[in-house]
Amino acid sequence: MSSVTHGQHIEAPVLTARSRDNVAVGDEIVRHRFATRLIHWSVAITFFLCVITGMPIWIPIFGWMAALVGGLEVARLIHPYTGVLFFIASLFQYFHWLPDMHFEKDQKGWFGPKLVSYLRWDQEPATEGGKYNGGQKFFFYMVNLAALGLLLSGIPMWFPLNFPPWLREVCYLVHDITFILFFCSIVAHIYLGTAAEPGTFSAMTRGTVTRRWARFHHPQWFRDVTGGDEAKRT
Ligand code: HEM
Repeated sequence: MSSVTHGQHIEAPVLTARSRDNVAVGDEIVRHRFATRLIHWSVAITFFLCVITGMPIWIPIFGWMAALVGGLEVARLIHPYTGVLFFIASLFQYFHWLPDMHFEKDQKGWFGPKLVSYLRWDQEPATEGGKYNGGQKFFFYMVNLAALGLLLSGIPMWFPLNFPPWLREVCYLVHDITFILFFCSIVAHIYLGTAAEPGTFSAMTRGTVTRRWARFHHPQWFRDVTGGDEAKRT
């Protein structure tokens, strides 16, 4: 299926994914519309800008990263600004996704047995309702909390003369620990969104997933989108 726009052939699912999501088109289901993908990639890009400007000013062993932005002085100068941009992008992402991120009754217990079982590939939390599983929702709240923590602890380092030394020391600790935890969870997130669960990455590039992916990973969302009728297509 394809449409012709400005002389170009654009496949129908891709065209639909520009403005709508949670809709089945042919063999695909639109999971993230263009606005969602734009916000997510703004978060990801600003996050990596923070990483490459922050790590060289943190530990000398990462000094080589500063060359990517023109040297250590440049890294030191622009890191707070990339941090503010990252926070603003995260804020957009937070409010954009919030309506989909309320925990359902059957999504409690993700901190314990469910998480272990999920990571051991025992089973998908298949019966859960909603577009996202409990682990994704937990990750969502954690990264947003961490983004706030990084911003708040970053301000006294940015304007050191306006804050007492003890507070600056606490902020260094909070900033570093939050970053380490954040970075580890982002590595896990990228792994889950790419190599570990094939078919997921296209949700953030093309905007769509296959019917098979949706049925396997989020069966309730699949039923909601297709109206429970697998043969129903738009
Ligand atoms: C290269 C880096 C990244 C890749 C490849 C990536 C990939 C993805 C993919 C494929 C999804 C869609 C999952 C789905 O539809 O079920 C997603 C969702 C999400 N991403 Fe990323 N992402 C990256 C960076 C980040 C960063 C830096 C953040 C930091 C806040 C982030 C936060 C989220 C959140 C909160 C969600 C929704 C919940 C979830 O699916 O876990 N992502 N990401």
